[in-house]
Amino acid sequence: MTLEEKASLVVGGGLNIPPAMRKNKMFAGMVAQPGTLAANTVNPVPGTAGNTIAIPRLGIPCIVVNDGPAGLRMIGGFGGQKYKCTAFPVGTLLASSWDKDLIFKTGQAYGNDVLEYGVDILLAPGMNIQRNPLCGRNFEYYSEDPLLSGTIAAAMVNGIQSQGVGVSIKHFAANNQETDRQTVNTIASQRALREIYLEGFRVASRESHPWTVMSSYNLLNGKYTSENYDLLTTVLRKEWGYRGLVMSDWGAGKDAVAQMKAGNDLLMPGPNQVSTIIQAVQDGKLDEKVLDRNVEDILNLILKTPRFKNYKYSNKPNTVANAAMSREAATEGMILLKNTDSALPFTKKTKSVALFGNTSYQAYLGGSGSGYVAVAYSVNLIDGLKNAGYVTDEPLKEKYKTYMAENAPKGGDMIANIMGGKKRAPEMPVTDSLAEEMAGKYDIAIFTVGRNSGEGEDRNLDNDFNLSSAEIASINTICKAFHAKGKKVVVVLNIGGVIETASWKSNPDAILLAWQPGLEAGNAITDLLSGKVNPSGKLAQTFPVSYADVPSVKNFPGIEVKDDSTVKRKVVYEEGIYVGYRYYNTFKVKPAYEFGYGLSYTNFTYSNLKLSSTSFAGKIAISVDVKNTGKVAGKEVVQVYLKAPKGDLDKPAEELKAFAKTGLLKPGESQTLNFTINAKDLASFNTDQSAWVADPGRYEVKIGASSEDIKQTTSFTLNRRTIVEKVSNVLMLPLAVSELKSKNQK
Ligand code: BGC
Repeated sequence: MTLEEKASLVVGGGLNIPPAMRKNKMFAGMVAQPGTLAANTVNPVPGTAGNTIAIPRLGIPCIVVNDGPAGLRMIGGFGGQKYKCTAFPVGTLLASSWDKDLIFKTGQAYGNDVLEYGVDILLAPGMNIQRNPLCGRNFEYYSEDPLLSGTIAAAMVNGIQSQGVGVSIKHFAANNQETDRQTVNTIASQRALREIYLEGFRVASRESHPWTVMSSYNLLNGKYTSENYDLLTTVLRKEWGYRGLVMSDWGAGKDAVAQMKAGNDLLMPGPNQVSTIIQAVQDGKLDEKVLDRNVEDILNLILKTPRFKNYKYSNKPNTVANAAMSREAATEGMILLKNTDSALPFTKKTKSVALFGNTSYQAYLGGSGSGYVAVAYSVNLIDGLKNAGYVTDEPLKEKYKTYMAENAPKGGDMIANIMGGKKRAPEMPVTDSLAEEMAGKYDIAIFTVGRNSGEGEDRNLDNDFNLSSAEIASINTICKAFHAKGKKVVVVLNIGGVIETASWKSNPDAILLAWQPGLEAGNAITDLLSGKVNPSGKLAQTFPVSYADVPSVKNFPGIEVKDDSTVKRKVVYEEGIYVGYRYYNTFKVKPAYEFGYGLSYTNFTYSNLKLSSTSFAGKIAISVDVKNTGKVAGKEVVQVYLKAPKGDLDKPAEELKAFAKTGLLKPGESQTLNFTINAKDLASFNTDQSAWVADPGRYEVKIGASSEDIKQTTSFTLNRRTIVEKVSNVLMLPLAVSELKSKNQK
């Protein structure tokens, strides 16, 4: 290969914009200059996010990469409008299933869409830690816990890659907010990084070998992640043994040569860094061997792709089967938060439903930005109820439709509008007379709360995390009217991230957290309401009583800084390892709904907790029996937490170390679940020693139905302080940070 060919291959082919639109000033610098290899490369799949360049002389094809986390985003204005893709449930919902097998099957279905639409690499899953509920992209991500995030991501990656296409797990790393996302400097301790922010990526890379990893936009401890050798090479490749490719996020970082040296093989979307790289090699600033290494990673990736293998994609994925999989996954990850006096499922006498809430008539299937999907169709809750034979009120439907059309905000950001971020009408207030009229006619009421967010923007506290006054008033009005007639009220949450519930949750009889469930939304929600499917999802993140209780509240989204030309913001992770339930449980801050929580239409008992030994030697096997003691079949998510003894380091009250979901247990049926705890599960990251160290003493094993609802406990001992793994002393804090500490230390 010539130097020009090599330099062109490590840089993407530019934004995938139709030739007629390329002269638009808006895209200046993002499209290829005539005569270059990038300009001569045609991305064959319109609307996708990008491609590598082709070198026909050497038989190297361009490969196509595309978003996103819950279904293919084919950008409408860029020719993607002709595609009909499957919208799968958002990442947060999938993680709430706690079911690796289900996620693997969902990944297989998703991989089929990817393959048959001619995409080689899917830019997903997103797996950053949900550090703060206001992060605008939390819906794309899985959890506040790294083990759950990493395990679910691995199952997803294995499912997708089983179809012969690749993924890009993203955004590596510590990209936990959208405010100033391209220029924010994340300051996090080595311990917080190792235990929380890197750990999920480590689990996913070890268990699923993703073809690619996407480095993030942010700086980490003073360096762009895409320019950070220690992150991309020392940790990811040398310590974790990762063998795949690293690509940058779109337009991330500043210094192409530093990115090359760091091991960021591919700069996306390109194409304007080519001359810089050529020049650096010629000037001796970039060793050609480094460039060769990155080229080799790209070529090894290309060799695996369908495009290199000349796969004849059909543009006809298994849409019907994939939608059925999306619906099944949606029902498995929705969470029953409240169910007083068995308000749900609907009884045999429930024939008709008064359906309130804008989103009951126009669901949020998923989020916006790169999380947006070019969706084949959508099923709203009104349609789902009708499909299942329930009677609803046509004039009420018309009222909502008219209200939403008349109150829809005009204009808006062009890009946001074509990528699912179009702002919608505020909630239609429900009047007393309307509620009373409906309470007279219908058996039960449903009110849906809807929320949308996406890339580029964090969420607001008012009218987003907190309900709007129209929403609160409507819930109260509906409850008053229906309760007066002895009828029940159900609130459905069609949301992408955590909201406030504590102030209003006592009013309705039942609350179903439906998240953003993909294209079969209305059918899937109805499956649970009607009892066709028994809810079995559990929270993968905490619902705090108020935003003020969130451990990162003082440090989100950080502070503006003006001392540097590129860095605009600094966010210091002062809460350290105390993210999510690690904080709430250790500092005894009572949440509205805790991590791991979720109800069922049946009950389960736990018994017979056994350990293979009470003294730890290398590993310990745990088993526990779970029995369905209720009246209907159901599945239970079982969580294994460890409480470490006091030792050299401050320790959280408990940490999730394993989990499993039972099969569908019939009433009276039991299942034995088995888990293994390894030495690494006992260890915390000791910064002074750059090592994972397990302290000696008594380890408590807590088997929970949630992080608070512990059903069985036992313990084992570790006799000696054990250094489980030594690692490199990298990614150091650039400044002194006083991290939050509990008293769980000797
Ligand atoms: C997002 C990525 C996405 C990429 C390509 C970026 O703005 O942060 O998640 O994969 O665009 O569309």
